[in-house]
Amino acid sequence: MAPYGRNDKNDRSNGFVCIYSKLKQNYGVYTHQGNYQIGESPRREQLGEMRFLLISALLGLYTCNAQSIPNLDSLIDDAVDEAITDTPKASTQEINTNFRNLIRSSRPGGSIGPTAPQQSTTSTGVPRRGSTRRANLFGRRRPIRQQDLPASRAATLTEKTAANVQNRSRAALSALNDNVKERISNAVRKREPDIFVPITVSCNPFDKYRKQDGTCNNLFRTNMGAAGTPQSRFLSPEYGDPWNLGYYPRTRGKDGSLLPNPRRISNAVFRSLSSPKSNKFNVAMTHFGQFVDHDVIATPIEIDTDGTDIECCNGNFPIIRPECFPFSTPPGEFLYTCMNFVRSAPTGTFPFYPGPRQQLNAITSWLDLSSVYGSSDEELNVLSTGSDGLLKTSSSGLPDNPDDDSCADAFNSVCFNAGDHRNSEVPLLTVMHILFLREHNRIATKLKVSHPGWNNDKLLNEARKILTGVYQHIVYNEFLPDLLGFDWSIAVGLMSQPQGHTNLYSSFLDGSTRNAFGAAAFRMGHSLVGNSVGASNSLFNEIQSKKLHETFFNTETIRDSAHFGPTRIGRWMSSNFNREMDRFLSEEVRDHLFQDENNPLDALDLGALNIQRGRDHGLPGYNRFRQFCGRFPAAFWTNTPGGFVDHDADTVTRLQSVYGNVDDVDLFVGALSERPESPDTVVGPTFRCLIAVQFLYYKYADRFFYEHFSPTTGFSLAQVNDIKKQTLAGIYCRNLNINKIQPKIFLNPDNTEDPTNRIDCSNLPDLNFYLY
Ligand code: HEM
Repeated sequence: MAPYGRNDKNDRSNGFVCIYSKLKQNYGVYTHQGNYQIGESPRREQLGEMRFLLISALLGLYTCNAQSIPNLDSLIDDAVDEAITDTPKASTQEINTNFRNLIRSSRPGGSIGPTAPQQSTTSTGVPRRGSTRRANLFGRRRPIRQQDLPASRAATLTEKTAANVQNRSRAALSALNDNVKERISNAVRKREPDIFVPITVSCNPFDKYRKQDGTCNNLFRTNMGAAGTPQSRFLSPEYGDPWNLGYYPRTRGKDGSLLPNPRRISNAVFRSLSSPKSNKFNVAMTHFGQFVDHDVIATPIEIDTDGTDIECCNGNFPIIRPECFPFSTPPGEFLYTCMNFVRSAPTGTFPFYPGPRQQLNAITSWLDLSSVYGSSDEELNVLSTGSDGLLKTSSSGLPDNPDDDSCADAFNSVCFNAGDHRNSEVPLLTVMHILFLREHNRIATKLKVSHPGWNNDKLLNEARKILTGVYQHIVYNEFLPDLLGFDWSIAVGLMSQPQGHTNLYSSFLDGSTRNAFGAAAFRMGHSLVGNSVGASNSLFNEIQSKKLHETFFNTETIRDSAHFGPTRIGRWMSSNFNREMDRFLSEEVRDHLFQDENNPLDALDLGALNIQRGRDHGLPGYNRFRQFCGRFPAAFWTNTPGGFVDHDADTVTRLQSVYGNVDDVDLFVGALSERPESPDTVVGPTFRCLIAVQFLYYKYADRFFYEHFSPTTGFSLAQVNDIKKQTLAGIYCRNLNINKIQPKIFLNPDNTEDPTNRIDCSNLPDLNFYLY
């Protein structure tokens, strides 16, 4: 049964029909969503969106089939000419070229167009139905009171985490005006009808610095990318209710039967007895990725009307309530056969507003180091010392957060405080937080010397602006090329120019984080996560090691400077291979996630949670995203042309053993199990496409992007060139107790293919503070 609103007809139609229907649809959106401060009219916004839709249609984005779209180049040019008044044409053409190249190169046999800039950079069987037990999940209501429930340790922990995110959401909202805050908060907590809230903020186009909550980045849609706004989408959702509103998650397959159980899929596809490792990249890359993830997305889950956590399992039994979407697990694998799962909080569009359920992003979408500085003024005030532009620290690195009890529940330790509340999830992530916190304070201290007249606010803002620029440079010139492939990243326009500015900002692009990026594509990092946390001595030899599950929310590993601590863990991260990005997940996160130390079976399966989250968010199946990326959908259970061409034969057999139909394969499962197209790429082609598109949006839609030329918000030529000399290796050197490091930090020095030798830290250039 195709849910209402799933426009299969359009999928096969030509691009014009697609554009027309999308424009019609979006016109409706603009009548309630838009915010036209600064003298902008809705008409102009529609033109901007039209331009974007036309470009998107050409690229095969939305629901259009890229193969059937006629050449729309001239149409695009006309629309662009009509729509653009504030973005120079040259920039727009370059952005279009970059998006085109991305999709072309995604197509089988596709190549990167001749217009790709040749630049170098400064750095571097049997179909089965779903489990019948699943039916229990949506069966009769059981009159169970929350307070009667047996405590599930693992569930408690997960929900503690979730509660933190929820607190975070509230904190983020506090930066908004009271009226809006109240409405979003009600929508999340009481499921009251709400809409995409037109946030009434007045923006000053001459503000030099980003707003803490991400508003005013786009001066025409002032809430774009702001904390507490809906996640946008690559493809419209496919939910399980007949109206496609999201009342039920995506639960049924193409032929109407229940989708397979997530744990069953996880056992069939993600389980590995061996643990293959990369022969190139190290653990630092994995957790820098996690740090970036926590900068751009935090999806709050539902909480009860009284503000307490929701429990979706009563021992082995699922609790039936609309906020719950638990699933069964085979007996003996976990303490209970019911795995807790609370649905993500809706934006409030459902059930009264005529539009499908959307999920929130509690933090800013921008690559703005909100993981360090928070997503509201209030958070920054708490994190700041109030003098000399410095942020609070402790001897272990991050300041304590006694108000956060998730670490106390887990290991009787005190959590840390940072811009993102997930900072203590694993010590490997905490190290990244410590690095950037210390670098901020170092920059502020140096700026005070070079600019003695600057006050606290000025020092804080300038240090934040510089560090965010350095961080963006690292993301686009170190992390993404390693993840997606160096040449490919250049060709699609992800990497920076070696020197100077670019002028590629477009106010017509939506820079907010896409749902499928957070709920699936960027979770590819879960496959990179290993089994342990180690510590290395000054010769980079491992001297200590712990199982990963012993460190979840356990800040003692960071505090234990005699055995672990940030420096030793940091050395270990930079000198130990991470796991291969493949269809396998470490048992530490697949069987022991947030495990109760006293009861090892009381744990969660991250792979299964990812599958369930994708269904909760109504993400369409893997095949739809293949089309989105300009590739043919898999029509047969083979890995020959017409089938799963990006998979190996064993994987296809495993997929077939659980899924009833090729179109039912979940995005996370289908894309994670793809093989990379080239040896220098970590991820398979579908995730590569989705991640690249998302990061193109982050770059081109961010008015404050470090490389954009702007006399108001940007850096001077000398400053931008100074920032382009910076590396994560430099940050490592200056903030951990080490003397040598490999300049390309994510490449393991033991890598025999690329014997990157460690160099003296003194050879890594620092910033010139007199330039700012
Ligand atoms: C030991 C390391 C990690 C742990 C324990 C962990 C755990 C989790 C958990 C529990 C969730 C929420 C699952 C749900 O939907 O219920 C999550 C979400 C997510 N994770 Fe991880 N993760 C780890 C590493 C990573 C890495 C390395 C990356 C990427 C490079 C990553 C990317 C994401 C993303 C994008 C989300 C969605 C966030 C949101 O929408 O709020 N994670 N992770």
